[in-house]
Amino acid sequence: MAESMTGLKRSSRCTAISEDDIGKELTLMGWVQKRRNLGALIFVDLRDISGIVQILFDEDICGHEVFEKAGSLRSEFVIAVTGKLQKRGGAVNKDLKTGSLELAATALRILSESETPVFPIEDDINTKEEIRLKYRSLDLRRPAIQRNLILRSKVMQSVRSFLTDEGFLEIETPMLTKSTPEGARDYLVPSRVHPGEFYALPQSPQLFKQLLMVSGYDRYFQIARCFRDEDLRADRQPEFTQIDMELSFVDVDDVLDVNERLLQKVFKEAIGLEIELPLQRMTWDSAMERYGSDKPDTRFSMELIRLSETVADSGFSVFSDAVKNNGGVYAINVKGQGDMPRKRLDKLTEDAKGLGAAGLAYIQLKSDGNRKASFEKFLKDGELDSIINKCQGETGDLILIVSGTLKISREVLGQLRVNLAKELGLIDESKYNFLWVVDFPMFEWSDTENRYMAMHHPFTMPYEEDLHLLSDKEALGKVRSKAYDIVLNGTELGGGSIRIHRSDIQEKMFEALGLSLDEANERFGFLLTAFKYGVPPHAGLAYGLDRMIMLMAKAQSIRDVIAFPKVKDASDLMCDAPSVVDKKQLDELFISTIPEENNEGKGE
Ligand code: AMO
Repeated sequence: MAESMTGLKRSSRCTAISEDDIGKELTLMGWVQKRRNLGALIFVDLRDISGIVQILFDEDICGHEVFEKAGSLRSEFVIAVTGKLQKRGGAVNKDLKTGSLELAATALRILSESETPVFPIEDDINTKEEIRLKYRSLDLRRPAIQRNLILRSKVMQSVRSFLTDEGFLEIETPMLTKSTPEGARDYLVPSRVHPGEFYALPQSPQLFKQLLMVSGYDRYFQIARCFRDEDLRADRQPEFTQIDMELSFVDVDDVLDVNERLLQKVFKEAIGLEIELPLQRMTWDSAMERYGSDKPDTRFSMELIRLSETVADSGFSVFSDAVKNNGGVYAINVKGQGDMPRKRLDKLTEDAKGLGAAGLAYIQLKSDGNRKASFEKFLKDGELDSIINKCQGETGDLILIVSGTLKISREVLGQLRVNLAKELGLIDESKYNFLWVVDFPMFEWSDTENRYMAMHHPFTMPYEEDLHLLSDKEALGKVRSKAYDIVLNGTELGGGSIRIHRSDIQEKMFEALGLSLDEANERFGFLLTAFKYGVPPHAGLAYGLDRMIMLMAKAQSIRDVIAFPKVKDASDLMCDAPSVVDKKQLDELFISTIPEENNEGKGE
């Protein structure tokens, strides 16, 4: 039977004790991790958020009744124990902070009983994630997850204190709002008072933070919840948290500077990492050319090698045609993998195709001195040698080549480079390589929309030198923007830009994006109106907090650093959301739903 804790007061958390407390009477509370009966003695490991302490029930000290009760304790019972702290009789447990101590119990209350837990409350369990998430309240008791959430709280404190000291104001922006353009689908919330109308949950506080700049709050930040209905990947959640900021009267260097100092302080306080400043900067062009990615993992080399010039007149038309059509031919040299078995090469080819390449060409420089190229019969004399030379190929190397559009050839190899490095263990996991990627293109061609779209967002400032290109449809792909991303170990940790504060440039931007002024007014009229009344030059940046913690904690998944995360299909396995609602609720909102079998648009 569960008892109350009336009259009891917890002395401290289980591990907030030391040898200085020996001899004191303490009351500790927590969950039973483990009970061991050794004849006249019972040992209980008592656990709370701080860790574990050993409790000793010795019948001679606690009496028969308490001893009997202790014998009934099972895993995850919640108990309160009063007793005297003493040095452990047995061996010291070096793995525990309290390993030399034990509480010799004199009184015990069972505050709550527990059914047998669905899985053990320990790290390194091999329970399926779906089960862990369904019983998240148990999963959250595991020390590994607790450490992540404690780290998360620490990071938020550290961010708040740094930014506050730098003169930033923490200001909240609405959750129920109008759709803001970040390129993903919105989560919509129906309005009861305005039948047929919807709020959107914010994809980010972008427009609101710009409005705050217009209003003179010249340094803003917010730890902001954002919502994006997009396809989930390992480092994405439909609902996630940004460390969001905006500053007035600044240019790129000012934003990067304050953020470098922020990262330095936060990583030092959270995980003791010393970051040397300034951080490396790389243009988007150079990142794509060298790594085939706008978020290069620089912890290992295996950089891309441009073969376009070497193979421009190749006898292998796949290569020469790609170059003629303004595409590219690129290679990577996978050191020491020249003897890779056919099966694995076929798998690499499949991977390359899956990533969008038409195929994968390879040259094996086998360890026995033989060399084999998948496309050798098409080559002119000496061509193979010049490709191998360009790639600095040596006996034992494997050269992988992809041709196609510039985008495909670089991005596919960029991805293979990362996959192979992981597979071959080439990554030094102790490294934290930060990198600013700067000068992103302003526009990105969208095949699905058949038009140029803003790569960051339509409020990003183009380079002044490139402004004249805005009115030339053919040249839009060449316009560079004052947008920057902060990349850590191949993950995009954050991104931002200098914003357009001049309405003439903003109008040109909408025009380039194919938005008429009416359409622009319909979507962002409130911002454009505000911009009529004096706008300071401004800029900002937002970090993905969840990703930051994931990288700091070296967690396997973003879900391990979020208390109540969602899974791949955006559902919450614990509370079973989303779920069907009462017809009455829908009626109030003037909403009727289409049965799923007729719902052709679903999941397109
Ligand atoms: P952006 O869209 O690049 O910029 O987002 C900023 C950062 O947020 C994180 N992030 C996510 N994290 C988890 N799950 C997701 N679904 C997800 N989507 C994004 C990433 C990303 O770098 N308003 C602009 C910022 C600005 O210009 O100031 C914005 O939202 O780490």
